[in-house]
This record gives sequence, C-alpha cells and structure tokens, in this order.
Amino acid sequence: MTETTDHGTIESHSLEVESYPPSAAFKEQANLADPAIYWQAAEDPESYWSDQARKLRWSKPFTEALDWSNPPFAKWFADGELNVAENCLDRHVAAGLGDRVAIHFEGEPGDTRTITYGELAHEVKRAANMLTALGVEAGDRVAIYMPMIPETVIAMLAVVRLGAAHSVVFGGFSSESLRARIDDAKAELVITADGGFRKGRVSALKPTVDDALRLDDADGTPSTVQKVLVVQRGGNEIEMQPGRDLWWHEEITAYEGDHTPQGFPAENPLFILYTSGTTGKPKGILHTSGGYLTQVTTTHRDVFDLKPESDVYWCTADVGWITGHSYVVYGPLANGATQVIYEGTPETPDWGRWWSIIQKYGVSIFYTAPTAIRACMKVGRQVPEQYDLSSIRVLGSVGEPINPEAWRWYHEVIGGGRAPIVDTWWQTETGAIMIAPLPGLTALKPGSAQVPQPGISIDVVDDDGNRVDRGQGGLLSVARPWPSMVRGIWGDPERFVETYWSKFGDRYFAGDGARVDEDGDIWLLGRVDDVMNVSGHRLSTAEIESALVEHHAVAEAAVVGADDETTGQAVVAFVILKSQQQLVSEAEAEAELKKHVSGVIGAIARPKQVFVVTELPKTRSGKIMRRLLKEAAEGRDVGDTTTLADTAVMQTISQRVRTER
Ligand code: WTA
Repeated sequence: MTETTDHGTIESHSLEVESYPPSAAFKEQANLADPAIYWQAAEDPESYWSDQARKLRWSKPFTEALDWSNPPFAKWFADGELNVAENCLDRHVAAGLGDRVAIHFEGEPGDTRTITYGELAHEVKRAANMLTALGVEAGDRVAIYMPMIPETVIAMLAVVRLGAAHSVVFGGFSSESLRARIDDAKAELVITADGGFRKGRVSALKPTVDDALRLDDADGTPSTVQKVLVVQRGGNEIEMQPGRDLWWHEEITAYEGDHTPQGFPAENPLFILYTSGTTGKPKGILHTSGGYLTQVTTTHRDVFDLKPESDVYWCTADVGWITGHSYVVYGPLANGATQVIYEGTPETPDWGRWWSIIQKYGVSIFYTAPTAIRACMKVGRQVPEQYDLSSIRVLGSVGEPINPEAWRWYHEVIGGGRAPIVDTWWQTETGAIMIAPLPGLTALKPGSAQVPQPGISIDVVDDDGNRVDRGQGGLLSVARPWPSMVRGIWGDPERFVETYWSKFGDRYFAGDGARVDEDGDIWLLGRVDDVMNVSGHRLSTAEIESALVEHHAVAEAAVVGADDETTGQAVVAFVILKSQQQLVSEAEAEAELKKHVSGVIGAIARPKQVFVVTELPKTRSGKIMRRLLKEAAEGRDVGDTTTLADTAVMQTISQRVRTER
C-alpha cells in the first residue's frame, strides 16, 4: 500500500510496523541504555551540550553555552578557546594513546599504511610548521583538492591547527567549479595531489588545479592563489610552475615535529564547504570550532555506540563531502577512534573489495549510503557472503532515505541479522547528525530515521510553522539552535537568512519533507525544493540548467531529478536547441551536452539522460512546470495539464520519453 503526500510517495507501514528492538546483548554493553537521556537533555539542552563540550580540551573554559541574542546568528561557548587539532591528536597522545592506530589506510592499488595517533600528531605538526612558513595564518582560507589519502586528513588538521579554515573541494569537481570556490573563499594556498587511484587508473587532479588557476573569473581578475602544494600519489606526469608549485614531500623535509597548539575562540571559522542550493551559485556553508566539534564528537560516540579502545570504524564517505568532514576527520579523531580510510571505489578490482577490507581490518562499525547498498544488492549477496563480516556490530546509513528493502538486505547480509542500523538524517548545514536511532535504546523501523538526538528539537510543521499531528506530513524544521549549526553562508549573510530562516522566522527550515508516525517517529520524504539527491550528493537543478544554457547550441533547458533504482534520483535534462542547430543529430547533441555538464560542474552532475525537445511545458505566465517533466521522466502518466499554455506539449514529451525508456 502506498500513500501520497504533498512531498512524495512513501510506502505505508501502518498495518504491520516492522520493528527491531535492541537485543539484550547489545543493550547490555551500549554506551547509552537509559532513555532518561532524552528528557534530561530536553529539560535543559544548553546544560546537556555544555556537559558534552567539557569532554573536550579547552585552553580557556567557556562560561556561557548559547548566545542567541542576534538570531539567526548563533554563538556557542563563545568565550571559550580551544584548538581543534589538539583535541583530535595531542590530547590523545598526552593521555598515553600515542600507539593506538588512528588510520588503517588502504590504497586502491593495494598499498597500505598504518598510522598511529603519535605518528599522525607528528605529521600534522610538521605540516603546520610547513604551512606557517608558506604564510598561512589564523583567519586565512586554504583550498584542498585531494584524493582519499592520509595527507588529506593531515592537511586539514594542519590548517585548522593554525586557526585557518579549509575549503575542501571534492576531487570530482571541474576546474570551473574549483575556481569558483577558490575565488569565493579568496584562498591563497591550494593543497592538491598529482592524482589519485580510481577504478584501477590514476585520476589526475593537479592539471585541473592548473586549469582552474588559468581561468579568468567573471571580471578578468587573476586568482588569489599564491602557492600550490602538491602531494605525490598517482605518479602521473604533471607540470610544476616554478615559484608557485611545490612538492609536499620535498618541502616537508625541512620541518620538525615540534609545534605548540594555540587556543582559538570557539567561534573561529573551522571550514567552509560548498553545497548546492536552489540557485545556480553554490553556498559556502560556514562552520566554526567549539560547537561543531562538540556535536560531531557526541553523535559519533552515541549514535554508533563507539568504543574507541576496541572498535574499528569505517565511513566510506569522501572527505570532499560533509560526511567525510564530520565522520571521517573530526568525530572519529576527536574520539580517539581507530578507523579505515580507503582510497578507491567499491568495485575495484571487483565488488568484493569493501567486504574484503572489513574482513581484513575487523571493521566493527560501518557507515555508508543507501545508493551504495543498492548497488551491492544488484550485484548480489553471493559476493559479501564470501567474506567473514562477523566483526560488524553497528551499521549506519546517510545521504537519503533508505528504502526498507535495502535496509533489510543491509541488516541481514552485511549485519548478519544482528547489527543495528542507524539511519542518520542530517545536512551540510547541520554539521552533525540530528535525527537517528540510538542503537541501545531505539526499536528500529526500516526506512525511518526516527528520533531527534538528545538536546536537539525537531518538529514537522505545516506551511505556517504549526506542528502537524501524528500521522501527518509536513516540513522538517529545527526548533532551537544546535551546537554544530551552520553559522552563515560565506560572504552572503542575506542569503543565509533568506534560505533558512525567512520561512518560519525563528525555526530553521531544512528543505526536507517529513512525516511523523503514530509513535512520533520521523520519516524523511525527500527535498521540497529544487535540490536533487543523486547518489546521496546534492545537486541543484538551477546550476545544471545554467551550465546547459551556457552551451552555444542550447536555447532553453529544464532539469529534473527523476527516481532512479540505484542512485535514488538521476539527473534528466530537457533541452531546446537553437534553431540553426537543428541539423545536428539528437544523439550527438545528447552526448555532447552530457560531456559539457561534466566539464562545467564535474562528473557527478552529468545527466543520465538528455532529451532534445521542441517545447517545454510552461504555465501561462511562462514558468516551466518541472513537476510534469519529472512525472514524464519517471514514465508516469502526466496528470492535470490544464494550467499549461499549450496542453499538447506534454503529450509530445511523454511520447518522446517513452520511446527512449
Ligand atoms: C538528504 C549529507 C533521508 C536530505 C549528510 C538532506 C537524508 C540532504 C538522510 C543533505 C537520511 C541526508 N534520510 N534523507 N538519513 N541523510 N538526507 O548536505 O534531503 O549532502 O536535506 O548532507 O540529504 O545532504 P548533504
């Protein structure tokens, strides 16, 4: 039975609610097994978060938790000072944990490195000294464009150790996207690698940096970048520009591992991470230090039931995304966890790779995305069944709603029917997990992220901001400021207010639809704006449309996210070619435009399908009806078209899509 709400279709679970309560054995050993935590935190969230924050090392203790005197600009622990890198490294070494493994690195070609906390601290200190010599100071921004290798983590921590902020740009973004981010943040240093290994080959990175720095920005000014530091990884041939480009491995030899961490104010910028919004221009999401570190550390410990002394944790996210920031770098390292970092893709050299890594390192906590689980399901359970996955005790999911079928497969085939799955809802903007089960407390429901974290107030509300009744759908909102919340959009305070706060005033508008069930559990229903979710990555329809119309042959373009079995949604574009281009064959135009979008934004934005059409469905006032295009792209019957200026246009388009499918 399915049910349709304003925000999409979900499978109804109202008849027999499937529920997986924690086993007695799991409860017995769980970090959190007393439900009182929820009401205790709710009674006084600020004191709950202060208690969590005090578990970190503060060089100057804070005296106030939240300053909400200038909403929506929150400050947490503002008069306190801390060094984030010291919290992730030196603190553990000082506690005698220097020999604990921080990172088991597995390169895609099979090379491995084991790095202890002592060694990681040493390398970060040397790198911090090197960056100081290159002129990096507190308050600066450093762009990082890297593969998934230990130096990426070292670079991030070295930057923040100095009180500077990083802007990590995912290695799959194009030179143009990279340049736009460098310009927006006014970065003077880029840290990159010659290349990294992906799908059995070296995928070059440095040439993209070269292209990015060659491009003129809109008004023709050169980039702010003075130096490019290059890690040697792929061994691919690259050009080094004298005076600008430096090899990391050559420079670093000049620096020792002595470096005293300085405390910085809790609200010192920690990083900027760009994410897609509803307009063509990505938003530079700004996170700061004390509150962010507090919430990522707390949630990483509690949601995954982490036992740092015995667990081996692995999150498959790339550090180019928020999940990599919060749950590869800051959460695990601040908690002193031992983790796996894997450079490559799950299918290289074959689909057994992930499972062989779990077996090899005895991974006990595994955190990945539904799109990856569905891809593995397609390949078949006989692959993971060849490996010993008995070390796994907690599984996590993030990025999009996990469909119950994938949940059950993950639970049974990967988790041996025993490991709880924590479905974690959060966003680049929330910085850390907001809604998720606590594995020792929550009876799990496949497909629902279920409960707000202790100290977090979430409501599903109607358009006017009133809480909806149980059993109803609405918009997800956060009712109170939380420690790791976005502090602003870099350089654009108005957009920050407009995007997240103008809808409800005092509540944060997340942009997701949600439903509360009869038990009060939350079911996420997907975005309510023009943001798509492709393989757990956010893409903006407007950004792809503007890339398409930049192409000389395109007159008009409309992009939609159509449901896709594996990737959740897929980018489907409808384009009208300029009249003089009609002679080009449609197949050529489609191939050319897919390539063009990859070139402008990056391979992740490449449309799965491009349909050349002669008209787009528009209302009488000229607005493109993307909803109808989405229905057509999903092969569904297009409903009511009476509001269209030309009611025949959708028939033609649906016909066109049907012949292709
Ligand atoms: C979606 C990723 C349902 C949601 C951490 C959100 C989810 C967007 C879930 C943020 C989940 C993420 N269930 N939907 N467990 N996790 N989303 O910024 O639409 O890349 O708004 O952060 O992903 O994506 P972002």
